[in-house]
Amino acid sequence: MAQVTVMDHPLIQHKLTIIRQKDTGTKDFREVVSEIAMLMAYEVTRNMPLEDVEIETPLVKSIQKTLSGKKVAIVPILRAGLGMVDGFLAMLPAAKVGHVGLYRDEETLQPHEYFVKMPADIAERQLFVVDPMLATGGSAVAAIEALVKRGAKPRNIKFICLVAAPEGVKVLNDEYPEVEIVTAALDEKLNEIGYILPGLGDAGDRLFGTK
Ligand code: PRP
Ligand code: URA
Repeated sequence: MAQVTVMDHPLIQHKLTIIRQKDTGTKDFREVVSEIAMLMAYEVTRNMPLEDVEIETPLVKSIQKTLSGKKVAIVPILRAGLGMVDGFLAMLPAAKVGHVGLYRDEETLQPHEYFVKMPADIAERQLFVVDPMLATGGSAVAAIEALVKRGAKPRNIKFICLVAAPEGVKVLNDEYPEVEIVTAALDEKLNEIGYILPGLGDAGDRLFGTK
């Protein structure tokens, strides 16, 4: 049984319907991807550890809660993952941002790595790997491999996407069972050329206005 959390909040579903539509242009697509990412960031940080802190209100001293300072990093898979970074940074403004550059060969569907730049201390960080699409799962697995090779612990990694195919969820689950997958939608399947159905098309091209 695939391990995946579907974040089907009504606001997320509504916004996802907007970006699925073929007539949604680059400006709206970009804005709405960012809004969905912000809503997802709010939810995926629900279990961040807190600690007590003594403060003074204008009236009394008081013990209140504050984030315990666990370090986080947001890791977009280039290019399309870049569309989710601002939304995450809106919720986590002090987060570091690492980058994994991958493109999927259109014939073989295999990912090719072209760039990796990570914060030096990724072994100690909670990592949010973001990419709008989880299709065959090849790119997600390659990105996580790149992080693990540099010391990241799979249990500290969450993979966050907007649309996932069951095929990709299975591949990522099988390869990295400790990595939690969070998606805004779990779609039906891949088509014969590796696109998610119903999906939203090519996320990178729609974000950046390329073909
Ligand atoms: C897309 C998408 C994922 C990948 C998913 O990127 O953003 O990274 O495909 O497919 P997979 O699960 O089958 O690997 P693409 O390779 O098109 O690059 P781009 O982001 O530069 O457009
Ligand atoms: N990459 C995309 O951008 N869209 C898909 O449907 C599959 C892979």
